[in-house]
Amino acid sequence: MSTEVPRILVNMKAYLEASCDRALSLARAAEKVSLETGVLVGIIPDLLSAPIVAREVDIPVLVQHVDPVEPGAFTGSISPRFLRHYGISGSLLNHSERRVRLDHIASCVRMLSEERLVSVVCCTDPFEAGAVASLNPSAVAVEPPDLIGTRIPVSRARPEVVTEAVKAVRRHSDSALPICGAGITTGEDVRRAIELGSHGVLVASAVVKADDPEKKIREFASSVFD
Ligand code: G3P
Repeated sequence: MSTEVPRILVNMKAYLEASCDRALSLARAAEKVSLETGVLVGIIPDLLSAPIVAREVDIPVLVQHVDPVEPGAFTGSISPRFLRHYGISGSLLNHSERRVRLDHIASCVRMLSEERLVSVVCCTDPFEAGAVASLNPSAVAVEPPDLIGTRIPVSRARPEVVTEAVKAVRRHSDSALPICGAGITTGEDVRRAIELGSHGVLVASAVVKADDPEKKIREFASSVFD
C-alpha cells in the first residue's frame, strides 16, 4: 500500500458518475494510467466504495473525510485507526464541501501520521495554507471555493494563489507538500500548476464527468513532467 502523496489526486465526491461500480472502473483507469506513465495517480472514492476499491487496485486510495475519534462509542464516525486495515492510504481533510475546525484537523493529522498514513488538508487561500501547514500534514491543497467545478483553473486564473500558498506551506512546514486544485481541466492547467511550485493537483469534475475518464487522467499525468 503506497503512502506517497500522488501527483494527480482524483476526488470522486458524491458524483453519480463515480458511484457504485463506476467507482471501481474509474479506479482501474487511474491505476492503468499510473502504471503506464509512472506518474502516481491516487483516487478518493465515496466512503462506501473506498474499501471495495482499495482491495482491487494498487494505487493510493484515500477517503474524503475522517473524524478525530479513537475506536469506541462514536456512532456515525470514522476513526483514522481503521483505514490501514481496509488498505486505505489516508484521508482528505477539511475540503471546502466538508469544512471542519482546526482542532479536528490537528487531531486527524496526528492520528493519520501515527498510523503512517497520508493526510491531505484542504484550504481556501494562502493564509489558511500556512495555518494548516504548521500541523505538518503530508500535503496542503489550496482550492479557491468559487473556482471549484467551474472549469476555470486556479493555476491559470489565479496563479498568485498557488505561488503564495506554496510559499506559505514552505514557511510553515519542512515536510508538507503543496498541491492545488479547482477548475483544473486540461493538461496545460496541470503543467502550469507544477511550474508554479505545486507537487501535483487535486481534481474532480474534469475526470469524473469526462466522456473518457482514462483519456483525461492520461492527459493530466503526461503533463506532470512536461
Ligand atoms: O477536490 C477537488 C475539487 O474540489 C476540485 O473540483 O471539479 O473543480 O476539479 P473540480
